Amino acid sequence: MVTPAIRGTIGSMRDHPDLPRLDVAGRRLVRRFGDGVQSWLEELPGHLLVLRERWSIELHGVIEKGSMSVVIRCRTAQGQRAVLKISPDRERIYREMASLAHWSTPHVPTAFRADPAVGALLMEEIEPGTPLQESGTYPALGDLAELLTSFHTHGMPDLAMPSVTDRVVYLFAAWARERHSHPSQVALVSQELFDRGQRLALRLAAEPSPTVLLHGDFTPVNILDGGQGRGLVAIDPCPTLGDPAFDPIDMLFWQAGDVDTISRRAELLAPAIGVEATRLLDWCTAFAGMAAADLEATGQRAEPPSEDRGKRVAAALCLADEAPG
Ligand SMILES: Nc1ncnc2c1ncn2[C@@H]1O[C@H](COP(=O)(O)OP(=O)(O)O)[C@@H](O)[C@H]1O
Ligand SMILES: [Mg+2]
Repeated sequence: MVTPAIRGTIGSMRDHPDLPRLDVAGRRLVRRFGDGVQSWLEELPGHLLVLRERWSIELHGVIEKGSMSVVIRCRTAQGQRAVLKISPDRERIYREMASLAHWSTPHVPTAFRADPAVGALLMEEIEPGTPLQESGTYPALGDLAELLTSFHTHGMPDLAMPSVTDRVVYLFAAWARERHSHPSQVALVSQELFDRGQRLALRLAAEPSPTVLLHGDFTPVNILDGGQGRGLVAIDPCPTLGDPAFDPIDMLFWQAGDVDTISRRAELLAPAIGVEATRLLDWCTAFAGMAAADLEATGQRAEPPSEDRGKRVAAALCLADEAPG
């Protein structure tokens, strides 16, 4: 709910003569973080004015996408196209900056400047930058493998990063909170199925495996078209240390209308990224209930009911039921 106080804040942001419009992004952040984000929104215009001066950038329009941050197209003094990402979750921006600095590959954007105290990151703009989610194009598995191995083969950072166990705990806790306020999710995925998925995920996370720096949020919204030559580029990492078989989960589910499609993708992708196909599929099984709930919720928000979506939800639920009791 947008309180009158927040409406006032967002209104004043919209009226700032010297900045791009921030009101739509402000409303999105209120929906994501709740009323607690109000003081951050009040300070946002001031931070942007300071960063613009300090980093000698022109601020253009806000990219009205994403969930945790405000992303603004800009241009550097050298004429380079860039984006400025700023978020109330400063810890997440700090980790994003650290992982982008760690990966030396064209498959992630180059970071130019960062201000961890403010939660701001200036990075190269990926062009054309269309997210997979928007183009709806499923990439060749070879391209996906190249993208994944470009992160997974970069050695270990000498930075403390959360483990896959931390990530599993976080994701299931967030889903549990969502289920609490949306009983339809519990009707779709029973508590028993939820528990089985979570147990399997925690077991997989605890098992010995190679440990690499994972992207951690490898979804079709965070994979952009980097144009010919460059190929796919992954943005918005949530860097996590652990099993390389964890990252592909969402891409194995994406647009899959039956379990065979998911297993076939796992079999083709696994050798190309140096993991066991059974392990890839086990990770998918552990997260299948969450994938079903997510598909159902996204569909309810964004599109009219579709037969395709129904099949995808059914496929994910069928896989979820494979988790040991
Ligand atoms: N380096 C970039 N180049 C081009 N577009 C970008 C870049 N970074 C972010 N974007 C755009 O901004 C959107 C939100 O960015 P993202 O980093 O995913 O934010 P959030 O953490 O809020 O999800 C992306 O979906 C993409 O469209
Ligand atoms: Mg994102």
